[in-house]
Amino acid sequence: MLTSMKSILDNAKKGRYGVAYFNATDLHMIKAYINAAETLQAPIIIGTSEGLLKQYGDFEWLAPLLVQAARIACIPVAIHLDHTYNESTIMRAIDYGFGSVMFDGSRLSYKENKKRSKALVEYAHSQKVAVELGLGCVGGLSDENGTVDRVRHTDPDIAEEFVHETECDFLAVSIGTVHGDYKSEPDLKLDLLQTLKNRIPCPLVLHGGSGLSDDAFKNVVCSGISKVNIYTDIIHAGTEALLDRQSKNYADCLLSAEKSMCEAAMKKIKVLGGANKASNEQQ
Ligand code: 13P
Repeated sequence: MLTSMKSILDNAKKGRYGVAYFNATDLHMIKAYINAAETLQAPIIIGTSEGLLKQYGDFEWLAPLLVQAARIACIPVAIHLDHTYNESTIMRAIDYGFGSVMFDGSRLSYKENKKRSKALVEYAHSQKVAVELGLGCVGGLSDENGTVDRVRHTDPDIAEEFVHETECDFLAVSIGTVHGDYKSEPDLKLDLLQTLKNRIPCPLVLHGGSGLSDDAFKNVVCSGISKVNIYTDIIHAGTEALLDRQSKNYADCLLSAEKSMCEAAMKKIKVLGGANKASNEQQ
């Protein structure tokens, strides 16, 4: 059932549980996520990002796969465009049927980020598409020149003004997580998260969800996060299954990677509290 991220996250915020967002680059990942969510009767958000599209394929074939998989699923599935730096990519995603998009202005000055975000939200809303913006920087991603983003925590005063002025639907916050593998134990600023939750009216998003302990997941949801983005841990699960090579048959190897990614996704959905929440969308 193709659903909007707005509906899924408004319900999650109200019900105080977390929903997983997973990035996909091919059919096996999409099938793994939907199978995981169907098994657990959970709402789910899947999609891709500008960087992944550049590396692994274009909207032309990935968007129809995502949208059709969502349509035929027995649970609510939202299709979302993750980290995007160019308005033209966002326009294309909207044309391809994505229900929500993320504009990442973390590499811009605050003034430029606000100006471009505001214009984008206005356009997206006119197309009935919701927008996730971010403030501060989670870090760990690299730009076209290979420069890795540095962590900047979200400032609550600026965040409040930013959300109010841009009228975005969701805000991604930086409270100590990092994209990719951790080199040391993440230092999560739960007090900062509580402050942000008390001052920001829209659902809050946490990027860099791989490598967090079960307790960390529970704590961030308890302190106000409605959506957690996860990619690296799923890639690890799929890669391990492929390296394990239980079969010499290409198609069977892919199936075993799919199974392993499905199991990894189920663990994340469960610990976020998303299991058995699918029916919230049907009311
Ligand atoms: P990880 O790869 O660290 O799980 O982060 C994913 C993410 O935040 C995508 O936006």
